[in-house]
Amino acid sequence: MAVAGSGGGGTDFPAKLTRQVVLCSLIAAFGGLMFGYDIGISGGVTSMDDFLLKFFPIVYEKKHRAKENNYCKYDNQFLQLFTSSLYLSAVVCSWVASFCCKRFGRKRTMQMAAAFFLVGVVLNAAAVDIYMLIAGRICLGAGIGFGNQAVPLFISEIAPARYRGGLNVCFQMLITIGILIANVVNYFTSNIHPYGWRISLGGAGFPAIFLGLGSLLIVETPTSLIERGKREEGLRALKTTRGVEDVEKEYEEIVRATENAKKVKHPFRNLIMKRSSWPQLFCGTILQVFQQFTGINVIMFYAPVLFQTMGLGGDASLLSAVITGSINVASTMVAVFGVDKFGRRKLLIQAAVQMLISQVFVGVILAKHLKTTNAIPMPFAYLTLFLICVYVMGFAWSWGPLGWLIPSEIFPLETRPAGFFFAVSTNMICTFIIAQAFLTMLCQMRSGIFFFFAAWIIVMGSFALFLLPETKGVPIDEMNERVWKKHWFWRRFFRNEDEEQAKC
Ligand code: BGC
Repeated sequence: MAVAGSGGGGTDFPAKLTRQVVLCSLIAAFGGLMFGYDIGISGGVTSMDDFLLKFFPIVYEKKHRAKENNYCKYDNQFLQLFTSSLYLSAVVCSWVASFCCKRFGRKRTMQMAAAFFLVGVVLNAAAVDIYMLIAGRICLGAGIGFGNQAVPLFISEIAPARYRGGLNVCFQMLITIGILIANVVNYFTSNIHPYGWRISLGGAGFPAIFLGLGSLLIVETPTSLIERGKREEGLRALKTTRGVEDVEKEYEEIVRATENAKKVKHPFRNLIMKRSSWPQLFCGTILQVFQQFTGINVIMFYAPVLFQTMGLGGDASLLSAVITGSINVASTMVAVFGVDKFGRRKLLIQAAVQMLISQVFVGVILAKHLKTTNAIPMPFAYLTLFLICVYVMGFAWSWGPLGWLIPSEIFPLETRPAGFFFAVSTNMICTFIIAQAFLTMLCQMRSGIFFFFAAWIIVMGSFALFLLPETKGVPIDEMNERVWKKHWFWRRFFRNEDEEQAKC
């Protein structure tokens, strides 16, 4: 079905939802599977005895000391470095990847991602010492930096405006499936001694192989082709991806955007110096800060550790992580269908309320019932598990997928890869901070940590309510005109746009 007229209030370009677009988006979304698998695997592996004994004997001893403080069992900087080193590497690499996206295209950048990731998997699965382990994490980080930079941009550019949200959420969908698969894998491998952890870490090779092979089949985005001077090819790609012949208007719009983009020699300088770039830069970056400071990765990385802290046994803890993982996948479906229907802001605001309530209740339960050396009474442990599921549900249909979607669609072409780099790297830095600091924060702040995240949720909910514009259905190359210049607050940044353009 060809569509004309978009939810964004303007005219959309004619386009069908073609099989090619759906297939290409799904293949690209395998980058999310790599990312998700890695997120989910780390927490389980770092709570496996064989793994701890081999690489972190001090943590192993501490964990088995009967009188160890509940909240501090896993507090070890090296152990946290295992989880977090990946994110530091991803920050640096997503910067490199932003240039690759522009120069070599989105498709090649995804292939590079798969290659880096595979090297990392081999190093990790075969690790004989901590150095090899960390080297592997660094290569995995490169894979994730390249993948997370290229995939959301690819999907946002290849998708017709009306379906952009839903297709882009496939990236998040595969992140969540990756996390779930990793949790299930950990559940089984934790009983395979002494090398179960190697199977867990090695399993990350599958998504990388899928992405690598799949990316041989996909087409480059018309925007990237036209941007790199391949106009004829770009026009052909536009016709096949849109499934209609009548693509003149969209083609002209992309050519206009690429010509504007060419005038900008220094996209990074442009982003930082030009007032009219600030709204997108601010919103794209702050959304990633908020996404991480929902506290989601406390659950994703450390759910087994957290549940063990509450006194559930080892297997029960991993199983609980599987439960939260399944809820995460199922709830992301709501975003796939809801994001282009209800719009971005409604989902963000609704979920903030839901997440706030559950965080506060978890904090209260732990404060009342979990002291330093006892186990939490079982009914309360299960109630906490339930509340955590409610919280994950909210995240999965809002701040998770939209944290990636919105920054990939709000920048004009000239600053899109550079702007999206700021978003990806902010995400990685914040993930690093949470991964590195959480176990220490849990040890120091105890249940207070949940109130800390609850306070952040109040701030982000207010941001979505008052400052974030709605981008549902607006063609990607028309965001400035239709969204930013019309927004009650952000439009003031566009007043002297032409004068500024001349300076950059
Ligand atoms: C976030 C990850 C998080 C995952 C959970 C993603 O959008 O970027 O940090 O672990 O969602 O589903």
